[in-house]
Amino acid sequence: MKTQLLKVNEDSIALGAKLIREGELVGFPTETVYGLGANALDAEAVVKIFEAKGRPQDNPLITHVSCVEEIPPLVRAIPAAAKKLMEAFWPGPMTLILPKADCIPNAVSAGLDTVGIRLPSNADARALIRAAGRPIAAPSANRSGRPSPTTALHVLEDMDGRIPLILDGGACQVGVESSVIDATGDVPVILRPGGITPEMVERVLGHVRVDEHVMSPLREGDVARSPGMKYKHYAPKADMVIVDGSSDAVVSKINALVHQKQENGQKVAVIATEESGPSYHADVILSMGSRSNEDAIAQHLYKILRECDELHVDAIYSESFQTPRIGQAIMNRLLKAAGHTVIHCD
Ligand code: TXA
Ligand code: MG
Repeated sequence: MKTQLLKVNEDSIALGAKLIREGELVGFPTETVYGLGANALDAEAVVKIFEAKGRPQDNPLITHVSCVEEIPPLVRAIPAAAKKLMEAFWPGPMTLILPKADCIPNAVSAGLDTVGIRLPSNADARALIRAAGRPIAAPSANRSGRPSPTTALHVLEDMDGRIPLILDGGACQVGVESSVIDATGDVPVILRPGGITPEMVERVLGHVRVDEHVMSPLREGDVARSPGMKYKHYAPKADMVIVDGSSDAVVSKINALVHQKQENGQKVAVIATEESGPSYHADVILSMGSRSNEDAIAQHLYKILRECDELHVDAIYSESFQTPRIGQAIMNRLLKAAGHTVIHCD
């Protein structure tokens, strides 16, 4: 199959919408990461998503809508707390888990009784959904086990020859996937941190819970409230370790670790910040941006993880980040990439 890469405009949106209606897959931009979309009400089309990504069958997909009026037929109920979250944070980087209606195929919900619904703020994404006239089921448009794509070229790297069309709407604004919030009960539970942070939810509802597995690994026997928790989103080819502590201690520790690896002939990358980058002696120093701008760090995260693989390094050491606000999403993705290997030092 030949993959077309087209800039977003009226014609390419119309082509994308036609492909979606015909049961094909389309890569498209959202404010978080690029999605790999199919008609959410067409089970056969949805199966193609799992094939193109190489995604485990038991990991459900998010259903995207272009306005709130499209939601009632897709769910059995919208609890009061969910309504408040919708009013506060949609359109935007938030997915709400709600009880699913029968029209949502099992292929989308992976057999669960619930469905994840998201109303993205990206205008191109909403234009595509509106033009298709169908809700669009879409996971991130990476091959399973690769970092999520934040540019159309990342999608091409992973999906070339597997899908007919990628719509290029430029780089994603948020850079990490949406916050997934289970809104089926009285107290909403954050299952995956993202652009809508616990602090923001708490301001609207007065309370919020963050699932314990957001920051700590699943152990044998633990039940994952969200199937995605079971999977390492991304495991770099190199061993990755996060080093946590005061900034001076982290720099000394990482430099010592890098030195040891280099003595053994290994190529080492350090994931650093603008402030600390010049203090490292490594083969590759990748700056996530300034510590004073967490939003920019989130934007750059996946691009930098992709670079680590391209540069064929043997080991990666990453600085850690504070976890209030978007920092929790940044640390959640880094911890997953590192398989929760953290060295503490002061
Ligand atoms: O920002 C995003 O959410 C992007 C863009 C394209 O919208 N999509 C995305 O989809 O990240 P995906 O499939 O890569 O991640 C969806 C996550 C998975 O961890 C999945 O397990 C969880 O949401 N999920 C989906 N439906 C669920 C459900 N019914 N119950 C619990 N978790 C669910
Ligand atoms: Mg994903």
